[in-house]
Amino acid sequence: DSIEKGGYEHFMLKEIFEQPRSILDSMRGRLELGGSHLNMAGFRAYEQKFVNAQRIIIVACGTSWHAGLVAEYLIEDLARIPVEVEYASEFRYRNPVISERDIVIAISQSGETADTLAALELAKSKGATIFGICNVVGSSIARATDAGAYTHAGPEIGVASTKAFTAQVTVLTLLAMCIGQRRGTITDVKLRELVTELHNIPTKVEKALKLDAEIQQIAETFKDVPNFLYLGRGYNFPVALEGALKLKEISYIHAEGYPAAEMKHGPIALIDENMPVVVIATKDSSYEKVVSNIQEVKARKGRIIAVVTEGDTTIPAMAEFVIEVPPTSEVLVPLVSVIPLQLLSYHIAVLRGCNVDQPRNLAKSVTVE
Ligand code: AGP
Repeated sequence: DSIEKGGYEHFMLKEIFEQPRSILDSMRGRLELGGSHLNMAGFRAYEQKFVNAQRIIIVACGTSWHAGLVAEYLIEDLARIPVEVEYASEFRYRNPVISERDIVIAISQSGETADTLAALELAKSKGATIFGICNVVGSSIARATDAGAYTHAGPEIGVASTKAFTAQVTVLTLLAMCIGQRRGTITDVKLRELVTELHNIPTKVEKALKLDAEIQQIAETFKDVPNFLYLGRGYNFPVALEGALKLKEISYIHAEGYPAAEMKHGPIALIDENMPVVVIATKDSSYEKVVSNIQEVKARKGRIIAVVTEGDTTIPAMAEFVIEVPPTSEVLVPLVSVIPLQLLSYHIAVLRGCNVDQPRNLAKSVTVE
């Protein structure tokens, strides 16, 4: 067991630290440094269908659904096709409108999630084109799709998904770039920039992992609180949801993720001097707005833990704790900003004496509906 954990105390920690490698493995052979040649066999199989798609529907559950939300931003941004992200369990039971010009992308680490499999079977029966993004080779979802892309994250043992998420986001980024290139919605210059920056991501994730000791200290401060709020906007909104899910799964602390601007429509009522609020506030197009959201939290004495871009001089004056991550392109930011949130949930759970790798009531793959 300890050999399999490679010297780490838990599989989850090992898997968090494997991310520079698993992200690299997920893009290896699919793009070349400095160029604009993308090579995704699964995409090529459906090239024409992606070009003509009137809509992309993403079906998934849990963390894979969060990766799907990131993909909504990516595909609409880079490929200009409308995207809907659906909980597989809701989609399959609500008589959805599906046409032959729709592409349905099913995202699943295990490839065995019953609701996701049933949702894609339903879409298939209505004539939609099905594309799978799975981690486990030969899994049921991988076999039920005609084309797709594997994530190459390697086996994920910890029930809380970490490296599978960043691998999914990596593959979805490549897919959005492929579609955008083929549809002419992304310039060659922009594409080359993104390819270069994607190559830098493993190093930046490596750097973010160096925050481990610092984050352990923050975990000490908050390990006994009953609630947490996570806020983010744009590409960081799904990251806020993912951070909250990680915390509740393994530490059993109640946590909610929200788009930062929605806070004023309800959750702001929860904020007082006892409420920790994790705000993902990297330097991107919504930065100024997120700074205003931080001010709103501060005015109500909320305890702010901010994930910021290195060198930020504004937010440190407002936050109780600041976690600095390396700068990257806005569309790639979830790959870096999610890392400290994984570590925060891990350390809080360990300090609370929880069973990190096998939290109560949860199964690694949910094969029942
Ligand atoms: C993630 O930490 C969870 N354990 C869970 O939400 C998981 O992502 C979900 O069950 C979907 O699993 P899948 O990716 O294997 O389909």
